[in-house]
Amino acid sequence: MTSTTPLSYVETTQVGENVIFSPFCVIKSEVTIGNHVIIHPQVVIESGVIIGDYVEIFPGAYLGKEPKGAGAIARQPEFNKKIVIGDYCSIGPHSTIYYDVMIGHHTLIGDNASIREKVRIGEYCIISRGVTINYNTRVGNRTKIMDLSHITGNCEIGDDVFISVLVATTNDRAIGRLEYDENRVQGPVIGNKVSIGAHANILPNVTIGEGAIVAASSVVSKDVAAGKMVAGSPARVIKDISTMRGGNYMNWRWWKRNPLEKGHASGPTLIFSQGPELAKTVTFVTTHLSKMMLSLETGLL
Ligand SMILES: CC(C)(COP(=O)(O)OP(=O)(O)OC[C@H]1O[C@@H](n2cnc3c(N)ncnc32)[C@H](O)[C@@H]1OP(=O)(O)O)[C@@H](O)C(=O)NCCC(=O)NCCS
Repeated sequence: MTSTTPLSYVETTQVGENVIFSPFCVIKSEVTIGNHVIIHPQVVIESGVIIGDYVEIFPGAYLGKEPKGAGAIARQPEFNKKIVIGDYCSIGPHSTIYYDVMIGHHTLIGDNASIREKVRIGEYCIISRGVTINYNTRVGNRTKIMDLSHITGNCEIGDDVFISVLVATTNDRAIGRLEYDENRVQGPVIGNKVSIGAHANILPNVTIGEGAIVAASSVVSKDVAAGKMVAGSPARVIKDISTMRGGNYMNWRWWKRNPLEKGHASGPTLIFSQGPELAKTVTFVTTHLSKMMLSLETGLL
């Protein structure tokens, strides 16, 4: 049973089974929504967005923002007016997903994250709170990017990569002093199974080879060979990873801890697996909350 409230604004008719539209959400025409989806209050979804099954979109998320060119940047963004969100994804509160983005199944986008045009993100990824991923960047499968890290434009990140908090990747050696030229402005290429410690800086155009480790606070100014650990500023090889504690820890899989063994431990998977009663309760609570908010605004309470 799909549920909506008088306070939700839903133009599209392409809606699956068991979808919850919360109050104050705005869903434009030609949005395609799968089955068992929860859309929380104040979510805005523009035309051309396709949402898979069992997706939960938290309050205030905006899907379908148009990138704009501006005097401040020479780059004129090109993009298709389309977004694809895979099954079992979770889109965090106040996150912004620009047009021309594709996100694979089971991927989690954290609170306040911002994903720019022409970004492709694989399956089972975690893009944590406050992460910014700039234009035309690829992120492989099972990769985690932790809180407040910045992934620059024209960057490539492989599978099973771990990028810790506050990591900065960069793409312009001229630091904005020259006109934008996409042949010159290139982000790093980060290979499969690379781990990058907190607060590291990765300079433009470097390649970090498969399985390499970048120590916390390093400044990586040159290519790093596969399997090496680098540290310092500028980063130098300090050891071979075969001698590191912990071994190949990327063999563990975070989603295997999910008691339902599909998707995330909370959200639509849990709610809809608990049957229509819980889904009804969620709708009831969001409806009454919105009525209270409206009464407060109009001075009735
Ligand atoms: C790089 C790292 C993994 C090395 O761990 P390790 O294999 O146990 O290495 P050790 O602690 O034995 O250190 C080896 C040498 O490198 C030095 N070193 C370690 N980390 C360093 C760093 N971040 N910067 C500069 N030097 C560093 C050590 O002082 C030591 O030097 P020494 O041989 O002169 O005594 C670890 O220090 C690190 O930076 N981890 C990142 C932590 C992090 O950001 N986690 C994210 C969680 S969200």
